[in-house]
Amino acid sequence: MKKSHLVKKPHSTISAKTATQTAAPSTRAIAAQVVLQVLDEGQSLSALIPPLQQTVKAQDLPLLQEICFGVCRVLPRLEQIIKHLVDKPLKGKARIVHCLLLVGLYQLVYLRVPTHAAVDETVNAAKSLKTECWRGLVNAVLRRFLREQRDILAVVDKNWQTLHPEWFVDKLKKNYPNWRAIIEANNQKPPMWLRVNEQKYTPETYRALLAEQGIEANTAAHPNALCLSAPNAVLKLPLFAEGAVTVQDLSAQWAATLLEAKNDEWILDACAAPGGKTTHILELAPQAKVIALDVEAHRLKRVEENLARLHQRAMVICGDASRPDEWLAQIDQRTLLFDRILLDAPCSATGVIRRHPDIKWLRQATDIAQLAELQNKILHALWAKLKPNGILLYATCSVLPEENREQIQTFLNQQADAELLPLPFTDEKSAVGFQFIPTENGGDGFYYAKLRKRA
Ligand SMILES: C[S@@+](CC[C@H](N)C(=O)[O-])C[C@H]1O[C@@H](n2cnc3c(N)ncnc32)[C@H](O)[C@@H]1O
Repeated sequence: MKKSHLVKKPHSTISAKTATQTAAPSTRAIAAQVVLQVLDEGQSLSALIPPLQQTVKAQDLPLLQEICFGVCRVLPRLEQIIKHLVDKPLKGKARIVHCLLLVGLYQLVYLRVPTHAAVDETVNAAKSLKTECWRGLVNAVLRRFLREQRDILAVVDKNWQTLHPEWFVDKLKKNYPNWRAIIEANNQKPPMWLRVNEQKYTPETYRALLAEQGIEANTAAHPNALCLSAPNAVLKLPLFAEGAVTVQDLSAQWAATLLEAKNDEWILDACAAPGGKTTHILELAPQAKVIALDVEAHRLKRVEENLARLHQRAMVICGDASRPDEWLAQIDQRTLLFDRILLDAPCSATGVIRRHPDIKWLRQATDIAQLAELQNKILHALWAKLKPNGILLYATCSVLPEENREQIQTFLNQQADAELLPLPFTDEKSAVGFQFIPTENGGDGFYYAKLRKRA
């Protein structure tokens, strides 16, 4: 078939909500809508997927997630395949059809769904998206791919592809001799790490419980961490509902460990939602007086849920970390100073791309300077609320020096009473904090710097 014959003019309009309004929403149609909302509207998968749990059948959710996350993970490769199969780009109202092709091709290239089911279901999804006039095109493109895939993939895969945006690859190249390893790790599916509740189990004793259920796990160089050999549903983990374990990446588990909160101390977890680190702080120091602060009220609900599951208590406050006087006044604690502050700062999240592959397409190069400015503002505002000799642990899930090493060096230059403390990961005296990079079967990309306020 001549390629240009594949593109037809649309006859009907496309409503973004069409698929979810039909009686039996098609998983492929919903996936195409989600992908469209990520790529064209800048929405994140973590905001789009959870509400779909109400509309999508429980048994269809894993496939929906696999397709949406998978398309974002390998998007440039799929786009190149489409370029081989469709002459004119599908623009405007036909963008949803383009996204449906991404969904169809992802199944054919990456999933073990029988090919006839993948093609038929994707073609039928055009109907539930009210884009029936494009069914012929979707069918023709997917079938032509099946016939010609060896040749097409040979051309598409001729050169190694980073599957990342160029601006980000350029930044990695500038800062990491081993930048390819970071890219390769980002392109993998992430391992599932558990944090064992120190008040109840050690990694070894909980690992024995897992083994009884036939679940394999390995310990790591962290006192609370266990890595599952294969991801598992949380509710299948022994005593999850009772608070025996929490799902948390290995690198993120260092936050509470490095903070070293003590019982009875005043602790601020400044950007706390959804509470992964707040609950760890309280597992290590159950009597600490913890304030869990976040600017997003709706995200604080998750903090409350996590505290409840673990039977912990903290003061949960909605407020802006860069304006501490406002929320301290609200709780009638105008003069309160903290013994320790954890600032898990808003950041580019470029260290957790393997868990959130949509970040690659949502984040722009220009975001980084803006984020660095906000981080610096929050650092200074919170420093004023730290006791003399108090500790501030700065953390990001970024791999970019502007948000990490350079940020802290700037802060040290600006704040004469700030002293950098050593971290247990390196003996390098001149190191400004420590940068974890994502590794296969290891932790995410994360940065830590520990500061003391001179008395
Ligand atoms: C990296 S996430 C925190 C993850 C959390 N510490 C955990 O371990 O579960 C960053 C958080 O910062 C919050 N945030 C962003 N700007 C903020 C601000 N100005 N004040 C307080 N929180 C803020 C976001 O709403 C988001 O929940």
